Amino acid sequence: MRDELFYKYDVPAPRYTSYPTVPYWEDSPTTEEWVDSLNRGFSANPPWACYVHIPFCETLCTYCGCNTSITRNHDREMPYIELLLKEMKAYQERIQGIDASPLQELHLGGGTPTFLSPKNLAYLVSSIMKGKTIAENFLGSIEVDPRRTTTEHLQVLRDLGFSRVSLGVQDFDAEVQRLVHRIQPFEMTKSMTEVARDMGYSSVNFDLIYGLPTQTEESILSMMEKTWLIKPDRIALYSLAIVPWIKPAQKLFKDEDLPRGKEKRRLYEIARQFLIDKGYIEIGMDHFALPTDTLAISDQQGELHRNFMGYVEHRTQILLGLGVSAISETPDCFHQNEKALPVYERRVAKGEIPTLRGHKLTVEDQVRREQILQFMTKGETRLEDEKQALKVKEFLSEMIDDQLVEVESGLLKLTKKGKPFLRNACMALDERLLRNKPNSEVFSKSL
Ligand SMILES: C[S@@+](CC[C@H](N)C(=O)[O-])C[C@H]1O[C@@H](n2cnc3c(N)ncnc32)[C@H](O)[C@@H]1O
Ligand code: SF4
Repeated sequence: MRDELFYKYDVPAPRYTSYPTVPYWEDSPTTEEWVDSLNRGFSANPPWACYVHIPFCETLCTYCGCNTSITRNHDREMPYIELLLKEMKAYQERIQGIDASPLQELHLGGGTPTFLSPKNLAYLVSSIMKGKTIAENFLGSIEVDPRRTTTEHLQVLRDLGFSRVSLGVQDFDAEVQRLVHRIQPFEMTKSMTEVARDMGYSSVNFDLIYGLPTQTEESILSMMEKTWLIKPDRIALYSLAIVPWIKPAQKLFKDEDLPRGKEKRRLYEIARQFLIDKGYIEIGMDHFALPTDTLAISDQQGELHRNFMGYVEHRTQILLGLGVSAISETPDCFHQNEKALPVYERRVAKGEIPTLRGHKLTVEDQVRREQILQFMTKGETRLEDEKQALKVKEFLSEMIDDQLVEVESGLLKLTKKGKPFLRNACMALDERLLRNKPNSEVFSKSL
C-alpha cells in the first residue's frame, strides 16, 4: 500500500526553501530597492542570520548540484575572502542597524568552506563578526568535507563559538564512492565526528543521498547501519536531484545504474524506517534528528524555521547571503548574487552589491509564504478563507481520500501517514504554481 502511494505521488515538487520558489521569481529588485528592503527589515534591530558561500572544491563529485568552482590553486583563498569582506562592508555602509542587530546565526557553506586554510577561515569569520552585536544564543555552523578538513579547521571555529558541523558523507559504499568520484573511508567520517564531539561541537549532521548510481536496497541498509554506528545528531537524507541540463557531470552516470521510480522510492523508505526505528525524529521533510538534538527540541516546541539553508532552530526574518550565487531574504524581498564567479568578483571589487536577480513579494506572496512556512515547519496551516479551503480541497482530493491530509475548520493538516508527502501537499498552497504550471522540468521529483 505504502509503495503504491509513493508511486502515485512521485511527481516533480519544489523543496519550498522559499516562496515564491526560485523558478517563479519575476519582479527583481534593483540594488537600491534591495537595500531599501534591508533597511526596512533592520529598522527594529531584529536577530538575523548570515550565510557565507565559499565555492571552491579541489575535485568534483559527479553528482554535485551545488554552485562550485573546481580548483587546487589555494592562492585564490585570500582574494576571495577580501571580496567577501568588501561585500559585507558595502552592506554596512548602506544599512542602518546591521551592526546593532544581534547576529543569531552564521553559516558557512559551499562548495567547501574548509578549502580555506584554518588561518584564513579564522580571519574570515572573525572579520565578519568584528564590530557586530552577537546574539547570546549565537549559532555558528559549517559544512565540512571530511576529506579536506583538519582538526585545526574545527578548532579555530570552535574557538570562535561555532557549535554545529555538517559532514558531507553521501554514501559509505566503496563502489558508489568510486562512481561519484568521492573516496571517503568510513573511518575518516567516524574520526572526524569524534574529534568534533570531543572539541565540544554539540550537533553533528551527516548529509546522505539516496538515488546514487548502483545503490540497492541492501546497500542503503548497510549505509544506514554504518551511520548508526556513529549516531550523528542530525541527518539530512537527500533525494539525488538529477539535473544534467545544469550539471553536465551527471551525464557520466549510466542510466541503468541509476535507481529510479519505485526502486528509488524504496531506498528512501528503507532509510527513513531505519532511522525512525532507531528513535530519530522526522523533522518536516528529509531531515532527521535524535530527540536530544536542539533541532528536534525546537520542532517539539513549535519553533522550527525553514529558509534557504533548510530547517533551522530559530526563526529569523533576515538572511543575508554573502559570496557568489548567495541568496538573501527579508520579509518582503528575495535577492541573489551574481552566479558567475568572474562577474561577482568584478562587481564587488568596484564596491557594488552584486545583484543578479530576486523577487519583490506582493501582499499575496507574503500571505502564501507564511502559510507555506507554517505548513513546512508545523505540518498545519490556517487557510485564508472559504474560497481557498475549497480550492485546496479540490487540489488535494486524492490525498484527502488517501488520508494523507485533512482540511477541517479552515485548517490544512498533514496526517502522520502523510509526512513523506509534505512537498506534494504544500503545492496546494503555491498560488503561483497553481496559476502557471511549469511546462518544462524545473523541479526534481518530490521523493
Ligand atoms: C556543499 S555540499 C557539503 C559540503 C562539502 N562540499 C561536501 O560535499 O562534503 C552540500 C550537500 O549537498 C548535497 N548535494 C549535492 N549535490 C546534490 C544533488 N545533486 N542532489 C542531492 N543532494 C546533493 C550533498 O549531500 C552535499 O553534502
Ligand atoms: S559535493 Fe561538496 S565537495 Fe563535492 S563537488 Fe559538491 S560541493 Fe564540492
